[in-house]
Amino acid sequence: MAKVKTAFFCQNCGTQYAKWQGQCNSCKEWNTIVEELIQKEEKQSWRPSSPETKRAPKPLRIKEIDSSQEIRLNTGDGELNRVLGGGLVPGSLTLLGGEPGIGKSTLLLQISLRLPYRTLYVSGEESQKQIKMRAERIEHSLDNCFILTETKTQNIFKQIEAIEPEVVIIDSIQTLHSDLIESSAGSISQIRETTAELIKFAKETNVPVILIGHITKDGSIAGPKILEHMVDTVLQFEGDRNHVYRILRSLKNRFGSTAELGIYEMQGTGLREVANPSEILISHKEEELSGTAIATTMEGMRPLMVEIQALVSSAVYGTPQRSTTGYNAKRLNMILAVLEKRAGFRLAAKDVFLNITGGINVDDPAIDLAVVAAILSSNEDIPVGKDFCFAGEIGLSGEIRPVNRVEQRIQEAEKLGFSTIFVSKYNKISLKNTLIEIKLVSKIEDVAGHLFG
Ligand code: TYD
Ligand code: MG
Repeated sequence: MAKVKTAFFCQNCGTQYAKWQGQCNSCKEWNTIVEELIQKEEKQSWRPSSPETKRAPKPLRIKEIDSSQEIRLNTGDGELNRVLGGGLVPGSLTLLGGEPGIGKSTLLLQISLRLPYRTLYVSGEESQKQIKMRAERIEHSLDNCFILTETKTQNIFKQIEAIEPEVVIIDSIQTLHSDLIESSAGSISQIRETTAELIKFAKETNVPVILIGHITKDGSIAGPKILEHMVDTVLQFEGDRNHVYRILRSLKNRFGSTAELGIYEMQGTGLREVANPSEILISHKEEELSGTAIATTMEGMRPLMVEIQALVSSAVYGTPQRSTTGYNAKRLNMILAVLEKRAGFRLAAKDVFLNITGGINVDDPAIDLAVVAAILSSNEDIPVGKDFCFAGEIGLSGEIRPVNRVEQRIQEAEKLGFSTIFVSKYNKISLKNTLIEIKLVSKIEDVAGHLFG
């Protein structure tokens, strides 16, 4: 029998050590180094059957490399295609991370059921029955999907050779284990080995592989950072579990932009693509209420209209309360200070609550102007006209600063039927013949004047 070999790995960053120590030299974390069994054998897990793939690559001049036929596999899901940059690239490895229960398995099962390719869905987490129950909830018409419950990579490759799938999905990488390594599933060395085997398989057969990855408490993908380096694309599925909307973001993409994002709605029948997110994030009320204003923000490359709600009331206790959902609390304090100093609003004795509806988080500074409008509206108890919307950043001296992609924002507001948009005077706008009225403002006072007379 081969000699049992062990090594020490930092569970945080994956650095390997010959002996145990208290602190990791590379990431400086304490007590993260754990002994794991490693036992290398000569045999390889994935053996290419065709001798052609064994050909050693030769160096080529860049102009000799053939790039003309970049093929993308259509996943049948518009949002996913866009986030991937046009579809799955043959031979690529994609990692999908996200919190437990957010819908990673649902998303990938739904995609496997709707893919027009022969797909193998390997699950190490659920039984075939459980997967069938889940599949029954999801509407689908095509059925090219094989379900395998297996965790050993050698057995998975055996099934792959028998079925010859065109797409392979693994749920999840943390449950896989390879015979070549003796430590338990989910350990750093297992994750590294099984991912390396899958990469080798994907590159040699041109079959795209999608992996599901668990994430840790702080939101990063569990396992060594090296996992993110090894794969071609890292996607993150996020959202508030108490809300129905989910956002698919790309954190790394070797074949496309990372600025794109997809929006889904979790329904009883699986995840629905949301093609026009602005419409659902704005509550269409008959009555005009004070304290709400509509902002145009950008999520990736897409304009998105969100509703800002503010409540300003007299402070009951000595220190006024400030509370925000979906918006940076420090930024709210800054805006309140600017309002106090530059526009003479006495907000120091008021409690201010701010909420962005739909459970989404917005970092875009262009929503500042709508935040100001909502706060002033609640303070005065006069509604902001429901056909008005805003795009502008507030500077420390109370000036309204220009925002990026202003024309795209204006067009989105126009498309949704808003009558007026407030933007900074300093934005260069070359749009002509717009139906929407563009009000150019430079100071907070101008906006207050327009809105509340
Ligand atoms: P799941 O896909 O199991 O999450 P993950 O793999 O990321 O841990 O998440 C499933 C959640 O979604 C679960 O709480 C139930 C809910 N769900 C629906 O609301 N509708 C559906 O059609 C399905 C299949 C699940
Ligand atoms: Mg799951």
